Amino acid sequence: MSGKQTPRPRQAYIETFGCQMNERDSEIMGQLLSQADYTITSELHRADVVVVNTCSIRGKAQQKAMSLLGRLKLAKKKRPGLIIAVTGCVAQQEGAAIRERMGHVDLVIGPQNLQRLPELIRQVKSGGPGGVAIEQSNTFNLPAFIPELESSALPHKRFVTIMQGCNNFCTYCVVPYTRGREVSRAPADILAEVRHLVAGGVKEITLLGQNVNSYGMERQERDFPNFPDLLRLVAAEPGIVRLRFTTSNPKDLSPELMRCFAELANLCPHFHLPVQSGSDVVLKRMNRKYSRAEYLEKVAGLRAARPDIAITTDLIVGFPGESEADFEATMALLEEVRYHGAFSFKYSDRPKTVSAGFADKVEESVKAARLNRLQARQQEITMARHQEDIGKVMAVMVEGESRDGDGQWSGRSDTNLVVNFSGVVGTLKPGEMVQVRVEAACQNSLRGTLS
Ligand code: SAH
Ligand code: SF4
Ligand code: F3S
Repeated sequence: MSGKQTPRPRQAYIETFGCQMNERDSEIMGQLLSQADYTITSELHRADVVVVNTCSIRGKAQQKAMSLLGRLKLAKKKRPGLIIAVTGCVAQQEGAAIRERMGHVDLVIGPQNLQRLPELIRQVKSGGPGGVAIEQSNTFNLPAFIPELESSALPHKRFVTIMQGCNNFCTYCVVPYTRGREVSRAPADILAEVRHLVAGGVKEITLLGQNVNSYGMERQERDFPNFPDLLRLVAAEPGIVRLRFTTSNPKDLSPELMRCFAELANLCPHFHLPVQSGSDVVLKRMNRKYSRAEYLEKVAGLRAARPDIAITTDLIVGFPGESEADFEATMALLEEVRYHGAFSFKYSDRPKTVSAGFADKVEESVKAARLNRLQARQQEITMARHQEDIGKVMAVMVEGESRDGDGQWSGRSDTNLVVNFSGVVGTLKPGEMVQVRVEAACQNSLRGTLS
């Protein structure tokens, strides 16, 4: 491998799979690479460095990343100087095995080591053999990271990571293995990042973590804030028009957090509250640590605090041992809660997880049939929810003009639903607030006119 300089600027391509944590990590890596004199390209064939930021949550997610890596073998044959890095949850999970299987991969870097990306690339460029960085630690890996603003597609809204890892060990889930133990970021660092973003024109902040409700719980310090404390601190920052957070395990949803929805005007009335199953037997085998009745109580508490709150969820069908009756209990839960939206998945066996060793695996065809039925019914409920909005005038944060050039604009409601609207004279800026009268409901959006 040669260490010669190329005459044109060096370019890096980053492909991201998986959740918002990974998206945020990709932004951070992009920034680290631009500080190391790379420009970020969206054209893979121009890249000198390719980063594949992988997800391992389900078998399919992992396969997608693996098939891209497979294709990169040819690219490397054509351009031997190409540096290929695998990051994210598959990197953490598989470690050195990735390089053993795929000789064209130079670097394997776990989520807690991404700050080492530029240094490791430099080593490869100067003839080093490449390597694997997957050590896990109990400190926040990026204590005072100040993000760049111009790198974002939608400059008015940004994610801020408040914790890494997960301690819950739901029996089906790889995250506690791939992201390590819960570590809460210092509130001063979070606030510094938020202030920097707001000063740069950001209007909407989403606080990120695998289980934000347990923010601060692992810290021994007496005055370390809990999650509601942190929400109040961030919400009080001048200039934050909309505050959101994701994700939450229902077991840690406290009455104090519910009260935040009544008290904080800029906290958006949307709660993503993954339930996974409506059956107590399955919930227990998933190690979710709440019952169906406790979950429903929390939903009722949220709705009492904020009647207009939209509740969305995640569901898994075909967990090992899931009977017809268990599945019917999930179907009945959909009717009871009437979610505004749901992400639903077929159970997938994952490495190291407890449930991978469970007997009574549900047949693939049964999983597929259950998923179809659940998704069809949820689509109807979502549509009915959207129809309830017809006639309302709602506050919409502008995202941009439709690409079709038909005078349509697009934005988001406070419940995070896409709202397309017409009737704009002149132009609007992303992040600007407008009032839209809703006239029609679609499956994934609303339509209306500027009011
Ligand atoms: N921390 C979040 C979930 C993150 S993973 C929480 O606890 O709610 C996102 C979703 O992927 C989960 O809510 C679950 O529905 C799904 N999921 C996780 N592991 C899975 C598996 N092994 N098979 C199928 N779906 C899975
Ligand atoms: Fe996975 Fe459960 Fe942690 Fe969510 S709470 S990341 S589902 S182990
Ligand atoms: Fe996937 Fe890792 Fe996120 S497994 S969902 S990228 S935490």
